Amino acid sequence: MKHLPCLLLAAVLAIPAHAAEPDDCIAIIGTGSVGGALGPRFAGLGERIVYGSRTPDEERVRNLVARTGARATAVAPAGAAAACGTIVLAVPWSAVEATIRSFGALDGKLIIDVTNPLGVRNGVEVAAPIEAGSMGELVQSLAPGAHVVKAFNTVYYTVMAHPATAGGPVSVLISGDDAGSKARVARLAAGIGFEPVDVGPLRTARYTEAMALLLVSRLVSGQRPFDFQLHPWPVKQAE
Ligand SMILES: NC(=O)c1ccc[n+]([C@@H]2O[C@H](COP(=O)([O-])OP(=O)(O)OC[C@H]3O[C@@H](n4cnc5c(N)ncnc54)[C@H](OP(=O)(O)O)[C@@H]3O)[C@@H](O)[C@H]2O)c1
Repeated sequence: MKHLPCLLLAAVLAIPAHAAEPDDCIAIIGTGSVGGALGPRFAGLGERIVYGSRTPDEERVRNLVARTGARATAVAPAGAAAACGTIVLAVPWSAVEATIRSFGALDGKLIIDVTNPLGVRNGVEVAAPIEAGSMGELVQSLAPGAHVVKAFNTVYYTVMAHPATAGGPVSVLISGDDAGSKARVARLAAGIGFEPVDVGPLRTARYTEAMALLLVSRLVSGQRPFDFQLHPWPVKQAE
């Protein structure tokens, strides 16, 4: 019964709810809280993980590789991005542009953008103004031939690692312009225990990035944070 909402949502979205089929590999760029949470979870689906780290030989990164599984490796970010068809961007927003510019060709690759343009100043959350409208759209402008999908950015990293610790089902909000790429991300999200919800084209990343700011505002003010679960209307309402 626990997975029923997930199955229902997947049916609504016409997305298969089974675990993702293994891709060639998934490059996880950034080995911090998010990279360290998603890497082992995707590996659990049978995906081969290649971490992209500025210090791939550091003990901290080697420990992450070891707990991800026997097939996992870590190399420099550009090498990881070149090796895999799917790239998870899990670096600070301020490092995104330089990181992508350091990559080679990205045409046809799926980039899952988890970044949020925010920070904390004097104990208060602050949004960073992004001229492109959102980090998702900025990433797309830097890699015009790639399929950029915004996802997982409204989920706290401890919940990414252990969704069962949330108070109930948690949605992964998916923004993107390519249906096949969004379906692949939805399968990954469902496979690791989340409810994938297609919220629209990539420009809707503006709104999910603001939702993440709401979550951070709760965290920094010491209040109980939220997990987000979206309920699509069962039928379209009259105009
Ligand atoms: N924390 C969350 O719960 C959460 C949830 C949703 C979304 N996000 C977003 O996801 C992204 C990653 O968040 P995080 O919490 O994983 O951050 P983090 O713990 O600070 O890790 C970011 C990683 O990015 C890499 N990196 C590359 N360039 C960097 C630079 N110039 N400065 C610092 N690190 C750099 C580092 O890995 P290497 O040292 O191996 O290169 C670092 O460990 C952020 O954009 C954040 O807003 C976070």
